[in-house]
Amino acid sequence: MNVLVTGGAGFIGSHACVSLLEEGHNIIILDNYSNSSPEVIDHIKTITGRTFSHYNCDLLDYTQLDTIFGKHEIDAVIHFAGLKSVPESTTIPLTYYHNNLTGTLHLLQIMEKHKVRRLVFSSSATVYGTNNVVPYEESMPTSATNPYGWTKVMIEQMLRDYTSAVPDAAVTCLRYFNPIGAHKSGLIGDNPNGIPNNLMPYVCQAAIGILPSIKVYGTDFPTKDGTGVRDYLHVADLADGHVKALEHLEKAKGFFVYNLGTGQGTSVLELIDTFERVNNIKLKRDICGRRAGDIATSFANVNHAIEEIGWETKYTLEDMCRDSWKFIQTKNKNK
Ligand code: NAD
Ligand code: UD1
Repeated sequence: MNVLVTGGAGFIGSHACVSLLEEGHNIIILDNYSNSSPEVIDHIKTITGRTFSHYNCDLLDYTQLDTIFGKHEIDAVIHFAGLKSVPESTTIPLTYYHNNLTGTLHLLQIMEKHKVRRLVFSSSATVYGTNNVVPYEESMPTSATNPYGWTKVMIEQMLRDYTSAVPDAAVTCLRYFNPIGAHKSGLIGDNPNGIPNNLMPYVCQAAIGILPSIKVYGTDFPTKDGTGVRDYLHVADLADGHVKALEHLEKAKGFFVYNLGTGQGTSVLELIDTFERVNNIKLKRDICGRRAGDIATSFANVNHAIEEIGWETKYTLEDMCRDSWKFIQTKNKNK
């Protein structure tokens, strides 16, 4: 298939591009590099030995988007491009709604104009909100607690309405749990701007000495050791999930939703302990109060993805910790 990948230079998009190219698909990357760098394009080429078209394009630029769709025969789109920081979304909500909602609306309008009707969308476990009980199942009601989360809930609704109106359309929303890890080459990985919000990039920056210690947000949650429990999955497994979802859409029509996770919960302390053990590093821990808005436990029921698209994770928490560490070391060596 010829697959247009929005946000293909980002953390998850770049790994999905590698998987798509390795599975023999062709890709066209579109990214405005607002949270990534054009270097990533070279790294994808180095890893795969493949070449492809790529554009510095903002989804808000309807005209440029139209031109790109006019130039290529596109069979399907994977839509990663979006702003993704929860705290930032509470301070600049209109920027988040404009970028994520208007960007997706433009993409859908252009896809419809060019009769491209296959789409895989990056949704998030954040749509399970605070009122559901783990393990989360796709049929549960969705809600959000911050503007970032609402953009995911609203885009899912937009896509559901679009597929109801266009019988030929095939759309899959993938609800990612907590992707960590990096490509085994160490060339691509999670590279957030500024101080990271998420646990694994924070652990990596503490391990390499950029940050003095790891902040453990809360030790009084009703969990096995009092710290937050999440469903961490390797980004390479997540990338494969996109290939599986796309291949499923070759035969299917309609609207689909799948959780992508391992189905296993890991606490903050378990993750830090594993990182220390597999990488032979000792990290300084700073026990803090709970972070606003954090829930105790989040993990997926993944039966639906296993049964319908034939996807299952392969990598362990040890692999995730080893590969994340390799990436931050490679990145700092190349500076
Ligand atoms: P990322 O920031 O690394 O990648 C997103 C990419 O989209 C970046 O390269 C950015 O430059 C680009 N982009 C943003 N707005 C754009 C626009 N208007 N036009 C063109 N390009 C634009 O993020 P990621 O972690 O790879 O996440 C990818 C998607 O998955 C996002 O939609 C995110 O919300 C979703 N998601 C991520 C996680 C996670 O933990 N990383 C979890 C759940 C869902
Ligand atoms: C966050 C987002 C969520 C998004 C998900 C994946 C928030 C409130 N939620 O969720 O919308 O879908 O990332 O991108 O930001 N922790 C620490 N120290 C740190 C960082 C985190 O102890 O420095 C803890 C947190 O309290 C949590 C766990 O680590 O228990 C994981 O945190 P994080 O990586 O931010 O992911 P989520 O909270 O699941």
